[in-house]
Amino acid sequence: MGGSDLPEHVRANRHYWDGMADQWVAAGERLWASEPQWGQWGVSNAEAPLLPDSLSGQRAIELGCGTGYVSAWMVRRGAIVSAVDNSANQLATCRRLQGEHGLDFETLHGNAETLPFADECFDFAISEYGAAIWADPYRWIPESHRLLQPGGRLVFLGNSPLQMLCVPADGSETTSRLERSYFGMHRFDWRTVEVDPGGVEFNLTISAWIQLFSQTGFIVENYLELTAPSDAQGSPFGVSAEWARSYPSEQVWMLRKQA
Ligand SMILES: C[S@@+](CC[C@H](N)C(=O)[O-])C[C@H]1O[C@@H](n2cnc3c(N)ncnc32)[C@H](O)[C@@H]1O
Repeated sequence: MGGSDLPEHVRANRHYWDGMADQWVAAGERLWASEPQWGQWGVSNAEAPLLPDSLSGQRAIELGCGTGYVSAWMVRRGAIVSAVDNSANQLATCRRLQGEHGLDFETLHGNAETLPFADECFDFAISEYGAAIWADPYRWIPESHRLLQPGGRLVFLGNSPLQMLCVPADGSETTSRLERSYFGMHRFDWRTVEVDPGGVEFNLTISAWIQLFSQTGFIVENYLELTAPSDAQGSPFGVSAEWARSYPSEQVWMLRKQA
């Protein structure tokens, strides 16, 4: 899809991520060489089992793969992987790391809200801070449902709605106050904030997520609220470890397409 055909938020996020890609190279290199660990706090796969031990022979898609380390973990578990990202520069890092690690999987420059794959051609779909927060859930959740075969699984991780409530309007560090309305939560446009201008993100209230899943045809198998480990320090991504030990900074939805 050419850039001019893209929805406005996807165009804006493409520009944002192409400009940011060099800042994600070091993390990508580290995570390509590691075992699965999740989110801002590096929670282990034993604690937050987003990936099963084996994906042998399963067709898997990563929606917003960035530098592609989640896709690498899936290939090492036996999956046949397609990795999609909206940023050509992020995919360039991914392709370089594929070469360096001798791991081959399909990469596609595209928008997870509308993809050129046939209906029901995947068994497993995953997003860690990719489509999970950067794509409109009312577009990418139905699209991932279309791509999965009946009984297939979608797992995604991103900021919790509670954390989004506690980010001040100027984009500064997450507080212990409710900084905005909960009801009606959908689109967060960070392009003009003072502290750290960003792109356009999305999140929903818990009830809106559940309604969307059920209307789309997903069953919720599990919902995790991740906490920072006891030895975590600092404020990566504007959330302090102390905050994230008291409140859930991240959510994981684990869904199954109705058979
Ligand atoms: C934070 S990275 C996620 C990758 C990795 N798991 C990580 O946490 O670093 C976010 C990625 O989502 C991609 N992205 C944003 N909107 C997208 C969309 N509509 N479709 C596909 N990818 C998208 C961005 O280009 C970026 O590479």
